[in-house]
Amino acid sequence: MDNERPLLAAVLGNPISHSRSPRMHNYWLKKNKINGYYLPIKVELEDFERVIRSLIKMGFSGVNVTIPFKLSAMKIADECSDIAKYIGAANTLTFTKEEKIYADNTDAYGFINNIKSKYADWCPKKGASLVLGAGGASRAVIAALLSEGSDKIIVINRTIEKAEKLKIQFENKINVESWNDLNEIAASSTNIINTTSLGMNDESFIPINPESIPKDALVSDLVYVPLETNFLKMARNRESRTVDGLGMLIHQAIPGFKYWFGKTPISTEELRAILVK
Ligand code: ATR
Repeated sequence: MDNERPLLAAVLGNPISHSRSPRMHNYWLKKNKINGYYLPIKVELEDFERVIRSLIKMGFSGVNVTIPFKLSAMKIADECSDIAKYIGAANTLTFTKEEKIYADNTDAYGFINNIKSKYADWCPKKGASLVLGAGGASRAVIAALLSEGSDKIIVINRTIEKAEKLKIQFENKINVESWNDLNEIAASSTNIINTTSLGMNDESFIPINPESIPKDALVSDLVYVPLETNFLKMARNRESRTVDGLGMLIHQAIPGFKYWFGKTPISTEELRAILVK
């Protein structure tokens, strides 16, 4: 470790106590022998910009933002990445020497790189992708699939109106189908991605028949508690390829760490074990 001033970053949210980001970044800081700290900070909505300006003055390198600040982060940024503009939300802010704010969204990157780290040959252009859910996470997954050249994306959401709004936002590049047709659509999909909270803590289930999951499909779940959701278990029993949500959480954090602390960290089994505790 050097004796220079420590590098500082944080995650801002409300609530924030559940966030696994501090554990992850502090693990990487230690592994890379970097003199730095990553803090969880709970912020009230009306204080968001003031807190950000203070952190800049205090010499922070940047922050992650989570619910409910992903939209406010875009508004206060001096510059936004193309993917952040496309998704319409930011999760990673970097502060420049000139005290400017650069906003990025690394969720799409995290989604793609997590899958490719496990299945290097994965190509979403092949076949149809079914996205369950139409919230913030769904927007990032759709943007990721489109950026990879996917031209057949079907969104199914309990509240169909929200999916229809996404269709407008993504200029009719996605199709919307009814929640009641979930089994039929799944059966003809090559990628199935759950972006809803169904399955979290094993408290709910995706209403899908195991037989509707094609054996050659790649099934991914953004839920990571439990690590293997009921949905992923179902897919594994069908011998489909599966990808869990913890990997996306880790991969979306990599660009932020690189921006603020200057090194590209890696996902390890040791880190995964620390995060599921
Ligand atoms: P996130 O930012 O994580 O995507 P969100 O924007 O609140 O969170 O979106 C949550 C998603 O989970 C939505 O698609 C929501 O469906 P609705 O739009 O119908 O609310 C979905 N979801 C949550 N609970 C659900 C449930 N019990 N059944 C079906 N879908 C559910």
